[in-house]
Amino acid sequence: MLVSATEMLKKAKEGHYAVGQFNINNLEWTKSILQTAQELNSPVILGVSEGAGKYMTGFNTVAAMVKAMDSDLGITVPVALHLDHGTYDGCYKCIKAGFTSIMFDGSHYPIDENIAKTKELVAVAHQLGLSIEAEVGSIGGEEDGVVGMGECADPDECKQIADLGVDMLAAGIGNIHGKYPANWAGLSFETLDAIQQKTGIMPLVLHGGTGIPDEMIAKAISLGVAKINVNTECQLYFQEATRKYIEAGKDLEGKGFDPRKLLAPGCEAIKEIVKIKMNLFGSVGKA
Ligand code: 13P
Repeated sequence: MLVSATEMLKKAKEGHYAVGQFNINNLEWTKSILQTAQELNSPVILGVSEGAGKYMTGFNTVAAMVKAMDSDLGITVPVALHLDHGTYDGCYKCIKAGFTSIMFDGSHYPIDENIAKTKELVAVAHQLGLSIEAEVGSIGGEEDGVVGMGECADPDECKQIADLGVDMLAAGIGNIHGKYPANWAGLSFETLDAIQQKTGIMPLVLHGGTGIPDEMIAKAISLGVAKINVNTECQLYFQEATRKYIEAGKDLEGKGFDPRKLLAPGCEAIKEIVKIKMNLFGSVGKA
């Protein structure tokens, strides 16, 4: 069931758990994530970066595929189709294409410009029934060409953006896209706590979910995080399973070259990691 993320995140914040956003790259990714959410009776958010949207030939293709797949698989759990780290133009394209949720990442603009653009997009998104995520501070590392320095968000600026009526707020708290370096300082819970004090019931979003230790995830949820984004970890699980299949020479046995066989171990691996994350985030059975 395709819906905006508003209700599922409100419930998550009240229930002290988090909904996972898993980024998609193609049909196999989408199918594996949707089937797992249904099996575990969990709400889910499908994240689409602008790079992944382009790879899948455009946001219209993505929206049409997800809608049709949701229907053909008989998915009854709430599913939000969400633009990840959207530009101003990208947000309008996704609204037009039929996404149910958008993220406007104005974190690289001066705060006044971030506020002005976010405010305009909140009005447009809400009028059409979409949910909207905004960002303050920045997520370190690189994701599909979006590079951030990883500076922690200013809690007062978070309040200014939250007051615009966004449905969820991504705030940099020392989190990084991709693998964490060995000398990573960890999440800044002091910053997260200060942001939660200022923004109250606002569901907070933790980007860079790959590789954050379980106890830090639990603490982040206890301090108001209600959405956690995972991208790289699904890619690593897919890669590892595919590598094993090829290295075992299974593609050379019988019809092992059939793409449906070749991609199957990777798909099973994505299901496995999505299950692990949904259990960790506490969203299982919460649909
Ligand atoms: P990871 O790739 O580190 O899991 O981050 C995902 C993310 O934050 C998507 O916006």
